[in-house]
Amino acid sequence: MTEADLGVEIAGVKLKNPVIAASGTFGYGEEYAGLFDINSLGGLVVKGISLKPRQGNPPPRIVETPCGMLNSIGLANIGLDAFVKEKLPYLSGLSTAVIVNIYGHSIKEYAELAGALKGLSGISLIEVNISCPNVECGGMAFGTDPDMSARVTDAVVSRADLPVIVKLSPNVTDIRAVARAVEKAGASAVSLINTLTGMAVDLGRRSPVLGNVIGGLSGPAIKPVALYMVYQTAKSIGIPVIGMGGIVNYRDALEFIIAGASAVQIGTANFINPRAAVEVIEGIRQYCETNAIARISDLTGSIRA
Ligand code: FUM
Repeated sequence: MTEADLGVEIAGVKLKNPVIAASGTFGYGEEYAGLFDINSLGGLVVKGISLKPRQGNPPPRIVETPCGMLNSIGLANIGLDAFVKEKLPYLSGLSTAVIVNIYGHSIKEYAELAGALKGLSGISLIEVNISCPNVECGGMAFGTDPDMSARVTDAVVSRADLPVIVKLSPNVTDIRAVARAVEKAGASAVSLINTLTGMAVDLGRRSPVLGNVIGGLSGPAIKPVALYMVYQTAKSIGIPVIGMGGIVNYRDALEFIIAGASAVQIGTANFINPRAAVEVIEGIRQYCETNAIARISDLTGSIRA
């Protein structure tokens, strides 16, 4: 039996397989290095980096929900300088694609971040986070408006020397409008979906459970929504779609690929099973071999609908 070719290409960057660890669920990579060979991943996305370090939102910041999780981290991170000094030397030694997720308070900050990453070795792609529901400025405030999304994208693309992925919010009426706007503004790919806005109430205290009141819902509970949005978006743009939202096993991942995704990201599943991503890769490999699929890329968008 010939081995299936799991390689995919996103914006000219070759990934050894279509499975990427999602931002905010995989630290800066090193945290998972003792659990499996992270070079076996197609790629990893680091926690969103801002210009200055951020403490994030007040606790509690995580609540478990039926089939999912609400988070309200507030983009806590070590900031650009510490990332470059302390994390990038390790990341640049990896043989998997390193994707740096960036977040700014303003369009100017997004552009500055893109400019600051210019010329640094060890980074393959930039992912622009315009979809975090847990911050007041930037984040979802930009990503729910096609025009603002396009302006952020244009500012980043003009300063970056790497291909740009824009991470989209599902908290919109029509995600295709935002996808089309960022494509027109120069995005090389889109990733979707980020979390759905939600909340939890403490009955005893009659108060919100999360310190920031609202949070982002992720995990298997959101998979059907994510799948639908990936399907819709993939049909309406010409750039690659990276699908995510509730993927826990290889079958989920394949559903996203068949619906139109060129690659997938594994997020919340990493908290339940830190080896989830490698198990997904292995499952995809076996599925391809059992079903005589020579190249995983042949499955992208192969849905019969
Ligand atoms: O709150 C957070 O840090 C989440 C970020 C995101 O959903 O992009």
